[in-house]
Amino acid sequence: MEFGIRGKYALVTGGSRGIGRSVALLLAGEGCHVAICARGQSDIDRTLAEIKKLNVEVIGIATDLTKPDSPRDVLEKIGNSWGALHILVNNVGGGGRWGQPTVEDNSDEVWLEVYNKNTMTAVRFTREVLPWMRNQKWGRIVTVTSIYGKEGGGRPWFNMAKAAQTSLMKCLALDRDITRCNITCNSVAPGPIMIPGTGWENEQKNDPVAFERMMKDQLTLGRLGTPDEVANVVGFLCSERASLVNGAAIAVDGGESRSF
Ligand SMILES: NC(=O)c1ccc[n+]([C@@H]2O[C@H](COP(=O)([O-])OP(=O)(O)OC[C@H]3O[C@@H](n4cnc5c(N)ncnc54)[C@H](OP(=O)(O)O)[C@@H]3O)[C@@H](O)[C@H]2O)c1
Repeated sequence: MEFGIRGKYALVTGGSRGIGRSVALLLAGEGCHVAICARGQSDIDRTLAEIKKLNVEVIGIATDLTKPDSPRDVLEKIGNSWGALHILVNNVGGGGRWGQPTVEDNSDEVWLEVYNKNTMTAVRFTREVLPWMRNQKWGRIVTVTSIYGKEGGGRPWFNMAKAAQTSLMKCLALDRDITRCNITCNSVAPGPIMIPGTGWENEQKNDPVAFERMMKDQLTLGRLGTPDEVANVVGFLCSERASLVNGAAIAVDGGESRSF
């Protein structure tokens, strides 16, 4: 299926590794020009080199997106180079393992940090790109949440932050001033996804036997998902083909979650 987004300008936050990297490569494969932002310059450079092979324009910006001014700075740089942005993928997030298991042992800090990294970063980027998308009369905003953004589970500060992202996309999808400019807002809710160098891989390395048992006993498919499997769904929602999908929160979890 041709996605119909050749020549569009796209930004993937946290696009240097993991799910974001897979989304950036998929969009570039569909002919989009792709900007990515993350903290580490070396991962940005490595991913940009891969994207460039697909003969599209690239922008890489090294920045800590938890700083409130950072999203505006990123978009200013993109505006100076491209003057347009059609697709925003709010991918940066995390914090599912932050804090202490006992709720009372956590100060305000952990709640606010997780909310800031996930929800406020998505709010700040979305707020800045909407005027561009309204002017263009076309836009796609996709936020990467979690199955814990659709149902109870996990640490409460993570669940609350991810649920707030789901709510943000749904509320914007109901705003007629936005939807009638051909802008759609959706979220994609991954289940456990194996990303090299992050929590799941650490668990596997620490106790491979227990990890294998956990996969077989607890996960519906008997395995974790891959970043590409999430990117396939994100990419579709960014496409012209998904023009009637708006306000959806789509689980990409191999059937793991309990909600409908
Ligand atoms: N992996 C899973 O099992 C899973 C499950 C459910 C939901 N998710 C969600 O999927 C999204 C992507 O997760 P992932 O597992 O692919 O993560 P990841 O492998 O940790 O990649 C995160 C990306 O974000 C960047 N990043 C992290 N902190 C940043 C910051 N403060 N400022 C700027 N960039 C930052 C990273 O680069 P730098 O470190 O160089 O900055 C990297 O490019 C997140 O929203 C996460 O909550 C993941």
